[in-house]
Amino acid sequence: MRKAIIAGNWKMNKTPDEAKALVTELKPLVKDAACDVVVCVPAVDFAAVKEAAEGSNIHLGAENVHWAKSGAFTGELSADMLKACGVEYVIIGHSERRQYFGETDKTVNKRVLAAVEAGLKVILCVGENKEEREAGYTDALVEYQTLIALNGLTEEQASNLVIAYEPVWAIGTGLTATDEQANETIGVIRKAVARKYGAKAGDAIRIQYGGSMNPKNVKGLMAQPEIDGGLIGGASLKAPDFSLVVNYDKD
Ligand code: 13P
Repeated sequence: MRKAIIAGNWKMNKTPDEAKALVTELKPLVKDAACDVVVCVPAVDFAAVKEAAEGSNIHLGAENVHWAKSGAFTGELSADMLKACGVEYVIIGHSERRQYFGETDKTVNKRVLAAVEAGLKVILCVGENKEEREAGYTDALVEYQTLIALNGLTEEQASNLVIAYEPVWAIGTGLTATDEQANETIGVIRKAVARKYGAKAGDAIRIQYGGSMNPKNVKGLMAQPEIDGGLIGGASLKAPDFSLVVNYDKD
């Protein structure tokens, strides 16, 4: 049995004061969660979130990481820097990084290797855009994105990864993949992992859905056998909404 994992991706939202207020409000609301609870936040909020989440079941994540140990990479953060701030998880390859900041499958792979090497837990994002879905390339594309990103990982390292399947057309649009569409594509990703690393790794790896997931649609998505959690944008910015997603298994 795979343990579900619900992660917030705050994107470029929340000052440290706002972050502290949000996590303080969230803490009691998610304390009985059956799933792993993570908030991936802007680096300026690490300290505030760490402090506010102290002693709770809320885990701290970052939204990106550089592949180098250190050096002349203005504006970037290394895996060791994240670890030193108490970061446990890191999102890599989000479609917004691919779309606006020149992220490629190759650079995603470099980041994944560096993060895993440093002991960070990776949330790897893959997903197709509208044109790619309409052209019938979804399966081939998510398979390719996944396999390139994992290149160089051992079976054990791959098994411990979290993958987020985020169809780009469903992000921030209010459009969600249907429960069946999400389940089917996540099944394709799981099979790709199983082909490369064996059935055990395919069974172990946790794969989330992301894209307009919210308190209303979470139950249906989470009822699908392949879907092990969610990566939540907009609905993670308000404690009541995010806690309803986290507590999807409760009435
Ligand atoms: P929304 O939940 O706002 O659609 O964002 C999804 C996302 O991109 C999470 O990484």
